[in-house]
Amino acid sequence: MDIVKEKLWPSTAGPAPLSYSSTTPSDWVDFSQQSLIIAIASILFNPVFWNIAARSEYHSKTITKLAFGNPYHGCYLLAITIFSLGIFRDALYERALQDQPTLDILTTPLAKLAAATLFATGNILVITSMWALGLTGTYLGDYFGILMDHKVESFPFNVTSAPMYYGSTMSFLGTAIWFGKPAGLLLTVEVLVVYIAALRFEDPFTSEIYAKRERQRAMDAIKKTG
Ligand SMILES: *[C@@H]1O[C@H](CO)[C@@H](O)[C@H](O)[C@H]1NC(C)=O
Repeated sequence: MDIVKEKLWPSTAGPAPLSYSSTTPSDWVDFSQQSLIIAIASILFNPVFWNIAARSEYHSKTITKLAFGNPYHGCYLLAITIFSLGIFRDALYERALQDQPTLDILTTPLAKLAAATLFATGNILVITSMWALGLTGTYLGDYFGILMDHKVESFPFNVTSAPMYYGSTMSFLGTAIWFGKPAGLLLTVEVLVVYIAALRFEDPFTSEIYAKRERQRAMDAIKKTG
């Protein structure tokens, strides 16, 4: 009986200690916490979900049909869903961090300052890009046939090509450092990898949507003059 208990001990040790000054990197992230696995899954799920939804809308008008044939209402429906999933994911992330060990070197005043700066800058990038793109521009309106008149090149798009994704990643990083959690740094790397993969999947597709419109415009111009 005692042997079994001892073997089980690491995973039944109860909540993680509040402060953890171990210098062994293998102790920095507690993979036995279910909340961590849920956060990992949620970070991966969101972009996968919106890309499947958007492609399905583009090819079969799935969401427009759900919105009784109105593409704008369909896009608003998707916007509310993606926004809510984002809030939920952020809550799961913070919940996961609570169950994780804290690393003392991440809790210095300088680290707190860096964390706050990253979080604020990240949120500025996200909010200003939503402002620049508008609701349908932010939430995949292109896939509904709601195209932007021209490419947005004003701030924050003159700083980075994907301010929404990189801004969001910065906020995750800021939160990880603010709470002093190495596990948060690991989840931030996951956020970045997932967003880079999403960009590689999304960018060529949306470029083609706009290229198609340009070809159509050129054809119309020829018809008009011819
Ligand atoms: C981006 O545009 C803003 C104004 O919209 C400007 O203040 C800023 O200097 C520009 N940044 C770069 C890197 O061009």
